Amino acid sequence: MDNYLDITQDVYRQAALTPELGLCCTTTPVWQLPGLVIPKRMLEMNYGCGSTVHPRDLVNNPRILYVGVGGDMELLQFAYFSRQPAGILGIDVVDEMLQASRDNMQQAEELNSWFQSDFVQLIKGDALHLPMSDSSVDVAAQNCLFNIFKADDLRQALQEMYRVLKPHGRLVLSDPVCETTMPDSLQQDEKLRALCLSGALPLQEYLNVITSVGFGTVEVRAKRPYRILAPQHYATPEIIYIESVEVCAIKDPMPPDGPCIFTGKTAIYYGSAEFFDDKKGHVLYQNQPLAVCDKTAAALAHLNQNDIYISGSTYFYDGGGCC
Ligand SMILES: C[S@@+](CC[C@H](N)C(=O)[O-])C[C@H]1O[C@@H](n2cnc3c(N)ncnc32)[C@H](O)[C@@H]1O
Repeated sequence: MDNYLDITQDVYRQAALTPELGLCCTTTPVWQLPGLVIPKRMLEMNYGCGSTVHPRDLVNNPRILYVGVGGDMELLQFAYFSRQPAGILGIDVVDEMLQASRDNMQQAEELNSWFQSDFVQLIKGDALHLPMSDSSVDVAAQNCLFNIFKADDLRQALQEMYRVLKPHGRLVLSDPVCETTMPDSLQQDEKLRALCLSGALPLQEYLNVITSVGFGTVEVRAKRPYRILAPQHYATPEIIYIESVEVCAIKDPMPPDGPCIFTGKTAIYYGSAEFFDDKKGHVLYQNQPLAVCDKTAAALAHLNQNDIYISGSTYFYDGGGCC
């Protein structure tokens, strides 16, 4: 096994035995929901950098897979919506993390009358070789694990998620991204990588890997400030600003002209007709906002109409719109 994968497992073995507050501290609020009580130890073991739990993904009783369980906090949140035995399958490669998760689930059962620990099934497995059959889950999630993987492993982990998802299934991801080129010395620092600090890709590169394995639709749901790597603390000549993103990749067929990536752009027609029709399936009604993917936004801008406004990316998109 590659050394950095060993080091990653060591880091999370330790983080399972002794919760490390602030390991992946984030500005994303923890879900507060009626009747949901999250055990203290689960909160202390929140090692994610965003949220992958979106109720909108959880209609129609989906079978949920969660890879890289941490202290199980997000699995409990998924269970809040799913509420059925074995509704959620959690996979982790570190035995100590699986044990900590099981202990946390017992506590969660004591604190939440609606929850049974058998709602979540925890099994040992590797994100790079998922122990599951093809097309067997509706929703898959990972939070703050894939950024640790180097290029070939990242691609393989995404291919595995794609393989086990059913057609139109959803992969929800949260990871750090960074627009500054990370110095090689930081990228190769295996401990920093394991701590989710130096594997971050620029957002577009991150999205490109996701679509390269076949996901035809991608939503960028959130982008938030995450960390600063400053020269006085890290081997970098300049400040490096890291953000965290939440992304949903949908196993839709790949459109012939490339993936539909929604980053929150909207088109608004303000001409004098009742509507504008681009004859490609997009009808813009007078002064009504239409969420458009980046591809459609670029095509509309290319028309050089002086009566269509196209907003910038809000990085806050989770459904509805053009494609
Ligand atoms: C940064 S933590 C994130 C934990 C959790 N997703 C959360 O949001 O709190 C990474 C998790 O991935 C697990 N992990 C590390 N390498 C893995 C691999 N190759 N396959 C599956 N899980 C892995 C670690 O044990 C740890 O639980």
